[in-house]
Amino acid sequence: MRIGILTGGGDCPGLNAVIRAVVLDGVGRFGDDVVGILDGWRGVLDGGTRPLGVEECREILTRGGTILGSSRTNPFSVEGGPARVLARVRELGLDAVVAVGGDDTLGVADRLAGMGLAVVGVPKTIDNDLSGTEVTFGFDTAVQIATDAIDRLQTTAESHHRVMVCEVMGRNVGHIAVHAGMAGGAAEILVPEVPFSTEAVCERLRRRHAGGRYFSTVVVAEGAVPAADGAASGADGAGPDTITTDAFGHRRLGGIGAELATEIERVTGYEARATVLGHIQRGGSPTAFDRVLATRFGAAALQAVHDGDFGTMVALQSTRIVRIPLGVAVGHPKTVDLDLYRNVAGRYLG
Ligand code: F6P
Repeated sequence: MRIGILTGGGDCPGLNAVIRAVVLDGVGRFGDDVVGILDGWRGVLDGGTRPLGVEECREILTRGGTILGSSRTNPFSVEGGPARVLARVRELGLDAVVAVGGDDTLGVADRLAGMGLAVVGVPKTIDNDLSGTEVTFGFDTAVQIATDAIDRLQTTAESHHRVMVCEVMGRNVGHIAVHAGMAGGAAEILVPEVPFSTEAVCERLRRRHAGGRYFSTVVVAEGAVPAADGAASGADGAGPDTITTDAFGHRRLGGIGAELATEIERVTGYEARATVLGHIQRGGSPTAFDRVLATRFGAAALQAVHDGDFGTMVALQSTRIVRIPLGVAVGHPKTVDLDLYRNVAGRYLG
């Protein structure tokens, strides 16, 4: 078969491991031709492709980012975009496309599948917010990076008797915040799913410090919202030349960490500082777990292509790789388990 593969959305450790698995298995086991589509759905619209053979996939297992490039291009927001994608896939002689991405990229795949595209999805996102799979690759790496950062912030917090606020990624969901916050022994974990009260956070910090702990680390997801304001902090006020939303209409978030640190300092009088981890969480080499998961996903997606099981996404459920309809995975983000957040993470705050 002739199979196209694309990587869309935010880059994520493990993308190259998926590409490698599809190429090695495709070429070696099935005798496929694999075509790399450049920059996500933009490559199908504008024609950017490159051949992908075993040679191109040497030494990429451990590399972060994606050798195919990525974009947040949405064919459905381009005039005639979906028809162009379908025509271009025919022109390229592709029998199927493997789309590796998060909610947006796979949402497009789902809609195109409904228009006849032979497509299989692979779930990727450090945010871990795709439904139907227990975990997406990239998440484990992001949690490890955030945990390492929190460990390092704790030493400054302790030495200088400060409150260190660490802002992590997580637009709609707080999986990274909860896992890294638990692993790093944070005093407070704030997630987008549960609007927080700055007053209550300050009160808990006061009680903790009165009890003899003179430092704290607060982990806040970028999408966390103070109950009083009702809107996540973002780049909206940054100036007329700043791009504030992407092609899928998502606002560029960030800033809640600094706002919270300022408020904590004002209300409690404790010195507070903010650190934004940002794209550091998406960069660099994947963990062993993510390399293995990405490889398993890539192999399973290729098998789905050869089984003709299109319109599906491979997923991890109870340690096994299964296939689910793309429509089940997209549209409804997988949010933080509130029992874990309140009753487990909440009881073990550092
Ligand atoms: O990939 C998901 C994500 O990491 C979100 O947590 C974050 O809001 C967003 O990407 C940032 O994307 P960009 O790099 O396009 O600004």
